[in-house]
Amino acid sequence: MSILRIHQLRKHIQQKEQRVLFDDFSVEINEPEIISVVGASGQGKSTLLRIIGMLDTPDKGTLTYRGKLSNEWQPPMWRSKVSYVAQQAVMLPGSVEDNLRTVSRLQKQPFDRELTKQLLEAVQLESLDWSKRAEDLSGGEKQRVALVRSMLLRPEILLVDEITASLDVRSKQAVEELLFDWHSREGTTFIWVTHDLEQARHTSSHVWFMAENRLYENSQTSAFFERPETDLARKFVQVSQDPVGIGEHR
Ligand SMILES: Nc1ncnc2c1ncn2[C@@H]1O[C@H](COP(=O)(O)OP(=O)(O)OP(=O)(O)O)[C@@H](O)[C@H]1O
Ligand SMILES: [Mg+2]
Repeated sequence: MSILRIHQLRKHIQQKEQRVLFDDFSVEINEPEIISVVGASGQGKSTLLRIIGMLDTPDKGTLTYRGKLSNEWQPPMWRSKVSYVAQQAVMLPGSVEDNLRTVSRLQKQPFDRELTKQLLEAVQLESLDWSKRAEDLSGGEKQRVALVRSMLLRPEILLVDEITASLDVRSKQAVEELLFDWHSREGTTFIWVTHDLEQARHTSSHVWFMAENRLYENSQTSAFFERPETDLARKFVQVSQDPVGIGEHR
């Protein structure tokens, strides 16, 4: 049974007039993977992730998780299995600790303090004061706390939206390593949106390239970067590539 099946998804948006954001978006995930979603700004990457995370609705098409259509799931149950970490991290009212305890509180399970400490350490937040008001954290701190908060849910699919965009290099690498370790250890599938092609290249096994209102290419990462199938993908990779090769082959 596949983990996730997305079939002919279409989303319209209402601007001056209605237009198609993407159409005929179909993919199937059959085993745990790390997938990078890339494409120019405004292509609908965040919207796609929000639809997959049941925070937005498609205009056409179906989503099937573990053999059951999305409308056969209670939305909170779906969201605990297929969880979205937003581009703009949202903190709940209260302290950092209140935020970290959200999942255990909702699931009426003991709070795993050790795991929480390990995860915070892994994202370079070991010295974060848990009693601080979550709202007062910096953008990069909020993003990492939001990631840890979602990981404590242990979803099978984690949808991660540009969460390293505002991080310094060391924190960014720490997050990448954590995702990779968590994927190997827990078998979590990550679908993550990134504009950092070097990051896509060294973290993911597949790339979904969104362009021209559709899933333009769905390829293995090495094939996408070394032998793109389409001219558009070739140009996208070339333009975004570091011309002097810094950061190559980490
Ligand atoms: N609910 C909505 N109503 C109207 N327009 C919307 C809505 N949600 C998204 N859009 C529009 O859809 C387009 C795609 O937005 P989205 O945030 O999904 O793009 P993106 O690929 O994630 O871009 P970026 O790389 O800049 O984050 C944008 O033009 C946005 O303004
Ligand atoms: Mg986005």
